[in-house]
Amino acid sequence: MTAFQLEFGLFEDNPQSRLPTVLSAFATPKKIAFTTVPIRSAFDKGRYEYLTSEACFRVLSREEASRSDDADSSGSSAEDSGISLADPVKVNDKADKPIILFPFTPDDSFAVAEDATRFVSEVLLRPTNSKPIAWFHMPIYGNQPPATPSKFPSRTVALPEEARSAYFYWHRAMVQTRYSSYLSLALELHATEDTVARDRWLSEPVSCIIIPISLFAAPVPLPARLSVFHRATIHSLLQWNQCKIMVRLDEAVTAAHLEACLDHLRREFSKDLPYVPKRRHLSPTMQPLYYNLCQSEYSGFEEDLVKYDQYEKAVGAALGHLRVTRKPIASAGDPAGTIEEEKFIVAVLGCGRGPLVSSVLKAAASIQAKVKVFALDKNPETQAILKEKLVTVWKDAEVELIYADMRGWRPAILLDIIVSELLGSFADDECSPECLEEPEKLLKPDGISIPTSYSNYLEPVSSTRMYRELRARSFDSRQQMRVFGWYRTPCLKLAAEEKRVLTFFQGPPGKDVKVTLRETLVDFVAVTDGVLHGFAGSFTADLYGGFTLSTVQGKETPGLFSWGVIFFPLLEPVRVLAGDQIQLEFRRCGDLFRIWYEWRLRSPRSSPMHNVDGDALEFPLYFSD
Ligand SMILES: C[S@@+](CC[C@H](N)C(=O)[O-])C[C@H]1O[C@@H](n2cnc3c(N)ncnc32)[C@H](O)[C@@H]1O
Repeated sequence: MTAFQLEFGLFEDNPQSRLPTVLSAFATPKKIAFTTVPIRSAFDKGRYEYLTSEACFRVLSREEASRSDDADSSGSSAEDSGISLADPVKVNDKADKPIILFPFTPDDSFAVAEDATRFVSEVLLRPTNSKPIAWFHMPIYGNQPPATPSKFPSRTVALPEEARSAYFYWHRAMVQTRYSSYLSLALELHATEDTVARDRWLSEPVSCIIIPISLFAAPVPLPARLSVFHRATIHSLLQWNQCKIMVRLDEAVTAAHLEACLDHLRREFSKDLPYVPKRRHLSPTMQPLYYNLCQSEYSGFEEDLVKYDQYEKAVGAALGHLRVTRKPIASAGDPAGTIEEEKFIVAVLGCGRGPLVSSVLKAAASIQAKVKVFALDKNPETQAILKEKLVTVWKDAEVELIYADMRGWRPAILLDIIVSELLGSFADDECSPECLEEPEKLLKPDGISIPTSYSNYLEPVSSTRMYRELRARSFDSRQQMRVFGWYRTPCLKLAAEEKRVLTFFQGPPGKDVKVTLRETLVDFVAVTDGVLHGFAGSFTADLYGGFTLSTVQGKETPGLFSWGVIFFPLLEPVRVLAGDQIQLEFRRCGDLFRIWYEWRLRSPRSSPMHNVDGDALEFPLYFSD
């Protein structure tokens, strides 16, 4: 949870308005910092509104507030000193960085998109410290709210005509400006409470939330406040965007009512919010085979206790199964079948710093099974910690460390159980099928590999925020086709559900695990209108005995958090309408040195094949050093 500065302002279309009168009548003017800012811009004066009149409020942190209180001889209490005149604040550097507001004119969307392009090219020519930004003023439902507001997505949701034109109007500008980060949305809320239409904006870049003052309950007899729906909407938007909040004076208002509304906003939204501004939403996918993971990456895994708990249960089930099926049988020499129960030989392949070794030992202890565990990893960074564990946490257990590449390692005796976790974000992107290609060379004929199988899934999604970040960090179109790990931010799901793409089996010995070219066609039907930016990938793994891991959205293993989604972008986003067929051609390719994925949209529009021959991103099968 990170606290950040939330800025409040007042927004009016008409600068000659009642705003100055209202502000001068504020009961506690000393506690309110505002500036009324005339903005001039050379850009297309005749055509666009500028934020010509605004009053900006900043909520001070508690420390700042108490500091300004100390300096303020009027002696206001700490409780109500959240806003202070002592530190007037500019929302931005007004003289140099005006905010230009594109009014909502969907009928003119081609012309507006052209103008947005011109605006962006003009911005790019300016010196770095004086680049203006532009907001697209966007009523949340276009010109017209839905006739019957929906709370839950139905199977197929075509947008009402007005809302559709608003959404595509904005996307036309995005496409035309090549997803410029100088453009974002000033989203205006509406009295109608429609969850489905609202949620599509959560994946768009919103820089400002405009709240008509008519949305606040009248001050008498109730205190001025927003409905639960509107509060939840603002919280969701603030969670994923660094926004300003503007109150729009859409009806006559008294200073007291306005103060009460602002006070409500301040109390409700200046708390610590779970927004993490510095954190990027996309990160390069891990390649633990190619490069050595660092300690912080291991620490991240180790916090996910649910993962290790599932493994522990699966290992317990596998040990239990082997114990039953191999129970000593009464024989002439041992009529009671009392020959000492065997010791199970388990190898944790790719053990990292050893949490799965501990899971195996706990599972064995819980059913009083004897085990010897090989703990194998190729990463030298793990060895010191593993050695320390050998003489501390595992000192009473039989654990042997192996520092090796699992592909070449052959144990002196065959194993009963192999445990591995090379699942990546897409089940097979850490080259698990290649690393564990020949379990029969390691396992006894009835040995068990955990996981026994794993599958990956894809679904078509829209997320301007994600797509823009991808483009911003990629220098050329080749790089834009890179697959990225995706922190779970909201995206618009364009199909009813994800589809399974490929499944890999990892035993029992003899079962075909050879992975050469795997290719498939994946079909979806669009359930809503939207702009298809790419495909979100997730996975399920069958560990053993009914214990599983899943990162599939909506079907996640409860509490599992260390895996993100993987994102397969489209070089050119594609507009889809509810009912459209979406068909994706998907391949997993490989040669002796690497694996890579190729993908191509076949419907509703055909795209070129992406990442041909691993041109943008490949997963090497060798070590980097
Ligand atoms: C995703 S991490 C999992 C680590 C650990 N099991 C855990 O859950 O914290 C995968 C581990 O496998 C190791 N690894 C990957 N490929 C390997 C290979 N071919 N041989 C040995 N270790 C390998 C990596 O060094 C890394 O420690």
